[in-house]
Amino acid sequence: MTYTQAAKVNEISENTGKKVEINGKAIALFKKDGKVYAINNECPHAGGPLSEGTIEGDCIVCPWHGFSYDLKTGKSQQQCEVQTYPVKIDGDKILVDA
Ligand code: FES
Repeated sequence: MTYTQAAKVNEISENTGKKVEINGKAIALFKKDGKVYAINNECPHAGGPLSEGTIEGDCIVCPWHGFSYDLKTGKSQQQCEVQTYPVKIDGDKILVDA
């Protein structure tokens, strides 16, 4: 596993997404209840930017057509699945294995 610094913890607001790039991949970071999640930024339905979506419960809702993905598993009820990535916090740094 190779963890890369994606952002600082204080750069992300609770319940708000942030798009970052790691190893050429666009990743969406979210902070929910103090925990940070990393998923692929591109919605597998038609490419919507998930970092601009809305958090509802444990899910991120795509801003384009409303598909909803579990932040922990990447699974949706629409039979689409978005890739999730392991996250580690090291001091004030968010590290992502992408
Ligand atoms: S592009 Fe995300 S729901 Fe259609």
